[in-house]
Amino acid sequence: MLERDRAGRGASWAAAGMLAAGVETEPGEAALAALNRASLALWPEFAAELEAASGVAVGLRREGTLMLALTRDDLASLRFSYEFQRGHGIELHWMTPREALAREPHLAPSLAGAVFSPGDHQADNRALGTALAAAFRAAGGDLREGTAVTGLDLTAGRVTGVIAGERRFPADTVVLAAGAWSATLPGLPPEARPPVRPVKGQMLAVRMDPAAPLLRHVVWAPKAYLVPRADGRLIVGATTEERGFDPHLTAGGLYALLDGAWRALPGIEELPIAETWVGFRPGSRDDAPLLGPAALPGLILATGHHRNGILLTPITAALLAESLLTGKVPPQMAPFAPSRFRAKDKT
Ligand code: GLY
Repeated sequence: MLERDRAGRGASWAAAGMLAAGVETEPGEAALAALNRASLALWPEFAAELEAASGVAVGLRREGTLMLALTRDDLASLRFSYEFQRGHGIELHWMTPREALAREPHLAPSLAGAVFSPGDHQADNRALGTALAAAFRAAGGDLREGTAVTGLDLTAGRVTGVIAGERRFPADTVVLAAGAWSATLPGLPPEARPPVRPVKGQMLAVRMDPAAPLLRHVVWAPKAYLVPRADGRLIVGATTEERGFDPHLTAGGLYALLDGAWRALPGIEELPIAETWVGFRPGSRDDAPLLGPAALPGLILATGHHRNGILLTPITAALLAESLLTGKVPPQMAPFAPSRFRAKDKT
């Protein structure tokens, strides 16, 4: 495994770690919703196995998620999502403001309504990267950090290896899993470039008292989400911006996050800022991942996970491993074949 930086330091590091298979389900994404839910079902066993293999806790928390409405407009939109997601078999509970405040007493008292999703959880995405690297090495994997890919070896139109500076790494199959940078891999012929672009997100974290945290559930407010960690960090995310790889935090971005968070949880006003950062989601044209053979023989894609890379980690690994070992595309992976974009390009 070749990694130009340190493993898990891209979108995996920037993420909030929400395992939001239910509340992020949107109209027109039935196949993706099914994949999200299948991956969520794998998470508990995946986390236990990974923790045992790596000795690193990955912070899987199962308090569930609250979605909030703060105004009458929000309430109408929350009612729509609630009906739509329940129609897809997602377990959701409508709550009065009083019921929501009983669960989370520091939410804005003027709350208009809330929905509780018992099945949407969170994990510590940064610990996940550390754990995966440790488990990979413990299993005998060769992880080379600080090793940028500079080209691909091609023989008779087939990928036969990867080049990193002076070194060549021959391979029967190469998996491209470079997140938002997947289309920019040096040596990739134009026809094999996956249609993946960076979707910028600005985020911040404030520091709560871990002994008396302001919040325990993941909360989706209308203009920000809030993710409380066991160590007291409260993550607030995220903007969604089409700005290429622009790495800058902006006054407007941070203001929008703080305002969105403050309207839902006024007590954050008193909390120290712990960190601010920018990340790049690997967005595809239909917001679903690209899993399977690229246009170039010998090259397999595992990219384009957009808003749900942490959630989709276990199923991506399982499907990719099965397809590499059998040479076949598992049925669950078929809807995400990269060829779906090539077929559209021809029409
Ligand atoms: N899944 C949360 C985000 O992409 O901001």
